Amino acid sequence: MGDFGETGLEREPADPAKRRLFENLLGLGFLGVTFVVAFPLVNVFTPPKRTSEKNELIEVGPEGSISDGTSKDVMGADGVPIIVFGKGGDLIALEKKCPHLGCMVELAGDELDCPCHGARFTSEGKLIKGPSPRGLKRYSVHVREGKIFVGSEIS
Ligand code: FES
Repeated sequence: MGDFGETGLEREPADPAKRRLFENLLGLGFLGVTFVVAFPLVNVFTPPKRTSEKNELIEVGPEGSISDGTSKDVMGADGVPIIVFGKGGDLIALEKKCPHLGCMVELAGDELDCPCHGARFTSEGKLIKGPSPRGLKRYSVHVREGKIFVGSEIS
């Protein structure tokens, strides 16, 4: 009695190397589960910054290179195509991609036209007519040290 060796119920003494390996694998598994659970929570509480908050200036060209009725296209800091044009001695920058289906708007006199489905916008970007769900976003324009720059979204 008391000898379980023949029945197979007696436990063999644990090999220290195997025990350490098992504990290390268990620890790695715990770290993995912690990462999988914690990573989405961190992302929820720290949303990515909008690129328009970077205050990055995009160079358009030399001062005086855009006059009334002329325009130049540039790519904004957040990857949005922008049209910069002159009107009444001022420079205006609007998003060039039509909010309807993404065609590029063109300067047409004092307004902007979308060639695809007929949307029309004022020189301030407000929707006049057409299927676009909204107007065009406007960006700040800066003239510094003889150069024209487009800044962040202002409306
Ligand atoms: S894409 Fe501009 S009106 Fe449709």
